[in-house]
Amino acid sequence: MKKTKANFERIKGVSVLPQGLEEAGVAELLALGAKAVKPLRRAAAFEADMACFYRLHLQCRLPFRLLREVARFPCDGRESLYSGIQEGLDWERWLHPSMSFRVDVTGTAPGLNHSHYSALQVKNAIVDRQRDIWGQRSSIDLEEPDVCLHVHLDREGGVLSLDGSGGSLHRRGYRAEMGDAPLKENLAAGLIRLSGWTGTTPLVDPLCGSGTLLIEAASLAAGHAPGMNRSFALEGWADFDDDLWREEKERACKRQEQGQFQPMIIGCEQDPSIAKQARNNAEAAGLSHLISIQTGDFRDLQLPEGPGTIVCNPPYGLRIGADQNLEALYGDLGAMVKTQASGWDFWLLSGNAGVTGALRMRASRRIPINNGGLDCRWLHYQVR
Ligand SMILES: C[S@@+](CC[C@H](N)C(=O)[O-])C[C@H]1O[C@@H](n2cnc3c(N)ncnc32)[C@H](O)[C@@H]1O
Repeated sequence: MKKTKANFERIKGVSVLPQGLEEAGVAELLALGAKAVKPLRRAAAFEADMACFYRLHLQCRLPFRLLREVARFPCDGRESLYSGIQEGLDWERWLHPSMSFRVDVTGTAPGLNHSHYSALQVKNAIVDRQRDIWGQRSSIDLEEPDVCLHVHLDREGGVLSLDGSGGSLHRRGYRAEMGDAPLKENLAAGLIRLSGWTGTTPLVDPLCGSGTLLIEAASLAAGHAPGMNRSFALEGWADFDDDLWREEKERACKRQEQGQFQPMIIGCEQDPSIAKQARNNAEAAGLSHLISIQTGDFRDLQLPEGPGTIVCNPPYGLRIGADQNLEALYGDLGAMVKTQASGWDFWLLSGNAGVTGALRMRASRRIPINNGGLDCRWLHYQVR
């Protein structure tokens, strides 16, 4: 196998995470071989060689994005941003005008307080450089760019990074259909991780919607690599190493073939069309053999022999469920858990503290989680 010098070079990277999953994100990076990992706000920094960076793209469950740092430069305004970007990457090698690109900017610097405006400055610096080299420029593609650039600005200056995925990593490719207020796949995977469920006991979601928690749990238990069925921007990078990528894919495949656990995973959904979506999504994820979805009211659900873990994301009454009697729903959910789930762990994502009290149960842990901009709590109840 070809091994170029670049394969062994350590790169600096950042895993961009949902708020509340920073520690879990750190553990995931370490388990997949990343080094010098440390938590940041809504992110984790790491170092990795290229094999590990590829592995993270194929196997990480929690990040939205994985960034590869390519340059750091002083930035105290528009002009230093412009020159920092022009000198930050060998554009002649990395961005031919036939390739499209997109720029995302986070943070601020003096005179650069609006990320949209800063992104425009970055774009101008790049296309001016391209015109100098080739007399032509790339087009911008916000949806499916060939090269996706990320610039972070703060008091210490600017950091230019390449985004390895292009589109967000939460898109695994299995979810053609969605019910009301679906959880993002990476957040659902993170909630399962935080629950400590390892795949050796039954797992039940009594209000499963389009099945995201169930599918991410099954994927974890079966050792599926979430990135196996999608493409990544890094496959078009100037230093992309085809052999190394294939090696990492084979490694992920082997892990999957060995399988891990075959737990019983059960969902319940009262809306027949949403229950059907959940079944279709489980099928598309190649996990329908592990997941059984029942159509009906959770009040009629019979839990399997336990103990096991119940996870759920009931309506909060904010975006959906405003027309329902949520007090009664949470009250009946608490009653079902107390009568049927003695010895089980019960985890509930609460976005409305006002109705969670109707469970009439006392949480032993309350983990703050940001769910699509909503301040939520992942609540743990040990059922006696
Ligand atoms: C917030 S959504 C769950 C979303 C899910 N986590 C996902 O990612 O798709 C809540 C779901 O509970 C279902 N639901 C509401 N009341 C129910 C009941 N009594 N029994 C079963 N399902 C119910 C709703 O139809 C809705 O699909």
